[in-house]
Amino acid sequence: MSEYTITYIKNENPKEKPQSDQLSFGKYFTDHMFIQDYNPERGWHNQRIVPYQPLTLDPAAIVFHYGQTVFEGLKAYRTKRNNIQLFRPDKNMERLNRSNDRLCIPQIDEEFAIDAIKHLVHIDQDWVPNAPGTSLYIRPFVISTEPYLGVSPSATYQFIVILSPVGAYYEAGINPVKIAVENQFVRAVKGGTGEAKTAGNYASSLKAQEIVSKEGYAQVLWLDGVEKKYIEEVGSMNVFFKINGEIVTPELNGSILEGVTRNSVIQMLNHWGLPVKESKITMEELYQHYQNGELEEAFGSGTAAVISPIGELAWEGKKMVINDSKTGPIAKRLYETLTGIQYGTEDDLFNWTTKV
Ligand code: COI
Repeated sequence: MSEYTITYIKNENPKEKPQSDQLSFGKYFTDHMFIQDYNPERGWHNQRIVPYQPLTLDPAAIVFHYGQTVFEGLKAYRTKRNNIQLFRPDKNMERLNRSNDRLCIPQIDEEFAIDAIKHLVHIDQDWVPNAPGTSLYIRPFVISTEPYLGVSPSATYQFIVILSPVGAYYEAGINPVKIAVENQFVRAVKGGTGEAKTAGNYASSLKAQEIVSKEGYAQVLWLDGVEKKYIEEVGSMNVFFKINGEIVTPELNGSILEGVTRNSVIQMLNHWGLPVKESKITMEELYQHYQNGELEEAFGSGTAAVISPIGELAWEGKKMVINDSKTGPIAKRLYETLTGIQYGTEDDLFNWTTKV
């Protein structure tokens, strides 16, 4: 039993809900949100679910100036039996606290946060869409609210959870995406904040993203920040390659985000007898494998992205078309199995889901 109680103020002016089959990613928000406040005297307090509304913050709040903030992303799914379930929320809350630690933000009670999310999703349950491939994206985040222009950790914070009914993250839907390997900018360096889910990592990715999207690429693939040699991640997803029958993913090194879907993919592939090699992999090696006809599949994994096949990789003026730009068998099987577990049509072998 949690030591906190949540007060609830109902939204008396609920919004019209979007059509399930017209959703893209992150454009609509539900009728309620969860908030709790932090100060050094009371710790986390004033837990409440209130109508979705703008925040009132001091313009000097630290979050606006120095970006002391972290976030998470997880999803609620409507099953065939009309239950609603979450996928591995414990993993997201563990990671939230790791990000909190990196950003000098006080720890939150993980079990309580999961209870609060379930409570909020339950209240807004009619917003969980039911068209294939849709879900309710859950965005927990912490902001530093102290008005202070000195560079130091805030004394006060808010932990907020908002909900957004979503469809596919990429315009391409579940079709293979085109990705450009970034060789000018870097996302993160060793000892930096790369493995924390914090706004700055995403802000620093925008310039590269803006450039490649004009050339028709969905996103960039980041290389390591020092030598620009080793493959890291895409920013909204971790990456996997099937090379000569073996599945390889970049090893976690402090600058790669430890994805919950990444972890699930590795467990699932191990269970299928297809062990994943977590190792350093250079772009040069990948290109060699491609030229030798050994790069059989490439795909990304993420909460928003699910399993996204990569049909084309552009690197230093060279274009690698992978598996004829078609979804490969491993990506397909993973997509079907993971979403099957999430939507309750496949056995939940690993106890990954929890009912709302
Ligand atoms: C997620 O997959 O939940 C993410 O946080 C990626 C995001 C940048 C959309």
